[in-house]
Parts: sequence; structure tokens; C-alpha cells
Amino acid sequence: MTDMRIVALSDTPEIRHALGEILVETVANGGSVSFMHPLSPDAAEAFWERSLAAAARGERIVLGAFAGEHLAGTVTLLLDCPPNQPHRAEVAKLMTRLGDRRRGVARALMRAAENAATERAKTLLVLDTAADGGAAGFYEGLGFTLAGMIPDYALKPHGGLTATMIYWKRLR
Ligand SMILES: CC(C)(COP(=O)(O)OP(=O)(O)OC[C@H]1O[C@@H](n2cnc3c(N)ncnc32)[C@H](O)[C@@H]1OP(=O)(O)O)[C@@H](O)C(=O)NCCC(=O)NCCS
Repeated sequence: MTDMRIVALSDTPEIRHALGEILVETVANGGSVSFMHPLSPDAAEAFWERSLAAAARGERIVLGAFAGEHLAGTVTLLLDCPPNQPHRAEVAKLMTRLGDRRRGVARALMRAAENAATERAKTLLVLDTAADGGAAGFYEGLGFTLAGMIPDYALKPHGGLTATMIYWKRLR
């Protein structure tokens, strides 16, 4: 996608609404991002309100990819690790709007998340993704290593269990 801007998001009604739309759409289309379908817009926005409050406290960074005023995708970098893991961060809630997929939005978001992690002296990233319908191939393309798989870890948005795949990547 040409003319894409990646920015750290803070809580405004417009941002919360746009993030809520991405989350509802992703879940409706089978994306494993912790929620079940149907996800109400209110529940989705309430999630982002809590997430952006955590971002305001410095516990996470919520990044957004914009094409003009349109929010095309998002990823969250969780920074709030235990005291014995100050060098680690976790990647969560990577989502691209259906109409913007396969145009490099998620790749650009992950590059920005890795840069943000490096700026905060993080040297290790971890994440998990559903085995069924997740993004394992995408993360492997970015240099993440599969640590292992846990069977029957979570329900898919439309029901039925899926395994989860745990990945890690060292940052230099
Ligand atoms: C996974 C997701 C974020 C990818 O978003 P995207 O913006 O379409 O990804 P990009 O266009 O940046 O893709 C970058 C590369 O990864 C590949 N890729 C994208 N999604 C992939 C997937 N699910 N599996 C394997 N490879 C994938 C693309 O083909 C592209 O490769 P290329 O440059 O060689 O063509 C998007 O499909 C999504 O929102 N899925 C639902 C939510 C989800 O599963 N999130 C991950 C939860 S951990």
C-alpha cells in the first residue's frame, strides 16, 4: 500500500470506533484474536478502551496503519512483563481490514512494532497464533521461530477447538 502511515494510537472516540470495527470484522471472518463471534461493537470498543488506557500508562503500544484517514490495520506490543523479564515484549492483536489484506499492511506494522521494541531495549519478542486459520506462515516469513504447539488451546470464533503455535524472535 502506498502512502501508509504507522502511528501509536491514543484514545479518541474515532480511534476507538475504528479499532472496534476492525476487531468485529476480524472475529466475524474467523480471526483468532481472543473473542467469539458475534462480537458486539460495544464489547469491541470496551476492549479497546481498556487497551488504550493501558497504553496511556506505558504498559503497551497500540500501533495503527493509516491510508489517509482510514485505519487499515493494527498491532499491539505488550511491554508490561514481570520484573525478571524486562528485555521481553509480546506481540498481540495483529489485524488488517479485510479489504486491505495482502498489501503489506501487517508487514509494515510488524516492522514498526519491532522498531518500537528495540527503542525500549527489548531483545526478545514472543507471540502465539492459532494453528487453524492463524498467521504462522506470515510470522515465519518475518524470522520468528516456532517454539512449539499446544493442542486444543482455544475456541475458534465460530466454535471448535484449535491448537496454538508459540513463536519467538530475537531482536538485534
Ligand atoms: C494475518 C494478517 C494480519 C496479515 O495481514 P496482511 O496485511 O494481509 O499481511 P501482509 O500483506 O503484510 O503480508 C505480508 C506477507 O505475508 C503473507 N501472508 C499474509 N497473511 C498470511 C497468512 N495468514 N499466512 C501466511 N502468509 C501470509 C503475504 O502473502 C505476504 O507475503 P508476500 O509479501 O510474499 O506476498 C491478516 O490476514 C489478518 O488480519 N488476519 C486475521 C487476524 C489474525 O489471524 N491475526 C494474527 C493473530 S496472531
